[in-house]
Amino acid sequence: MWMSAEHERVERLIEALDAATRQPPVGAAELLDALRSLLGEFRTSLLTHFGLEEDGGYLNAVLTRRPTLDRQVEQLKDEHRQFAVLLDHLLAMLDATGPADFLLIRECCARIQSFVACTRDHEQRENALVADVQNIDIGTSD
Ligand SMILES: [Fe+2]
Ligand SMILES: [Fe+2]
Repeated sequence: MWMSAEHERVERLIEALDAATRQPPVGAAELLDALRSLLGEFRTSLLTHFGLEEDGGYLNAVLTRRPTLDRQVEQLKDEHRQFAVLLDHLLAMLDATGPADFLLIRECCARIQSFVACTRDHEQRENALVADVQNIDIGTSD
């Protein structure tokens, strides 16, 4: 299924962000540059990804097959909106942080770690939803 390849691509970016912020070095200018470009790339990819999920019909396909899942689908869509807001906040905070601001750098890393955890949780629920719908389809096709 094309969506699982798409999810693997997003997971690789999440892993890179996670690894870069897990144990932040103290006052590293390179780290700030790396985080800016990583987060910028992540923002572009994630917004494209959300667009595909919403307009590419995958969330709608879930709804068509299982209308009772509308609350879960609405929640996932609303999280897409909130992730976009969070990404803008994170990028603004990175812009306001200098190479010697080690307290701010630590805070940026902590917030990115929290963001990474939320995106993983989101993707897991999405995958579970798709698996549910597929299992139901297999179950009823007998
Ligand atoms: Fe999503
Ligand atoms: Fe997703």
